[in-house]
Amino acid sequence: MKLEKCELRSPGKGEVVVKVVFAAINPIDWKVRSGHLKMVTGKNFPRAMGSDFSGTVMSVGPGVTRFKTGDAVFGMAHIRDGGALGEAVIAPEAFLARKPGVVSFEDAACLATPGVTAWNGLIDKAKLAAGKHVFVNGCAGAVGDAAVQLAQMCGATVSGSCSDASIPRARERGVHPLFDYRTTDLSRLAGRFDVVYDTAGTMKVKIGLGLLGAGGVFLDIDPTPGKFLRAIFERRLKPIICSARADILDGLARAAGAGRLRLPISEIVQLGDAIEVVTALEGGRKSNGKVLIRMD
Ligand SMILES: NC(=O)c1ccc[n+]([C@@H]2O[C@H](COP(=O)([O-])OP(=O)(O)OC[C@H]3O[C@@H](n4cnc5c(N)ncnc54)[C@H](OP(=O)(O)O)[C@@H]3O)[C@@H](O)[C@H]2O)c1
Repeated sequence: MKLEKCELRSPGKGEVVVKVVFAAINPIDWKVRSGHLKMVTGKNFPRAMGSDFSGTVMSVGPGVTRFKTGDAVFGMAHIRDGGALGEAVIAPEAFLARKPGVVSFEDAACLATPGVTAWNGLIDKAKLAAGKHVFVNGCAGAVGDAAVQLAQMCGATVSGSCSDASIPRARERGVHPLFDYRTTDLSRLAGRFDVVYDTAGTMKVKIGLGLLGAGGVFLDIDPTPGKFLRAIFERRLKPIICSARADILDGLARAAGAGRLRLPISEIVQLGDAIEVVTALEGGRKSNGKVLIRMD
């Protein structure tokens, strides 16, 4: 990783240029950097880094109707382009939402990838309805926490797993019962849930399916080609790929604006310190919330 000056291209059809205020780090940032996602990013390196951000619209490309210069927004860059870890980024219009006035730029920057991924699983794939029982594996992570809050908004009851250090925070969210993943054999919860969402990517498919009651679905955040193949025959298995849409971003903005969706922030650093912090997180350093990069 290195910091470099570069010329921003002009926005294409349906694209928006955003002056970034905060960018949020996600595991996908180092998965892209290390080349694990070449199938979606293409093989051309070096490339711009960073997915999630908040900021203000600098200019819009042809055909953009939802935003104008000066709008406060949040969202994500296209995985093909990246670039949120910079002073300005270009994103598709559909990957952005207007930032509600009551939501800070810090909080808004955290929302896109975790919120969209949670939405894709619970609402698009599981069609979650009130009264259902959801189990979130990794319920204190960013996607897990977003999934807990979205499930609660849908009127579902949420159980989950996390480390013992994260139990107080998950309890405060209303996750009950809670299980320490280091000391619990999850297979003993067999047959109890309508939806199991493995937001940590650590659960074996067999275990996830085993936790389901009749008509349940297992949402798997680690979508390997093998799992897609298996999902053709095992309809309860739904591999999830983060797929942003305007209606989802707008839904996240409404939820955050209503005070029903917020992710904790553990640390904010300047762009000059981004390489050090991304390297540490990639190396396994624990963070108790989202890590943000400040661009000013
Ligand atoms: N498929 C997609 O499109 C997509 C989209 C977004 C993210 N992801 C992937 O989803 C994963 C989570 O992303 P994130 O942003 O939520 O990361 P994150 O904020 O770092 O959260 C990861 C969480 O996993 C928990 N965890 C670790 N080991 C566990 C285990 N054995 N059982 C249960 N939970 C465990 C940790 O809990 P404690 O902190 O309590 O230890 C941590 O809170 C990453 O691998 C990411 O690349 C995939």
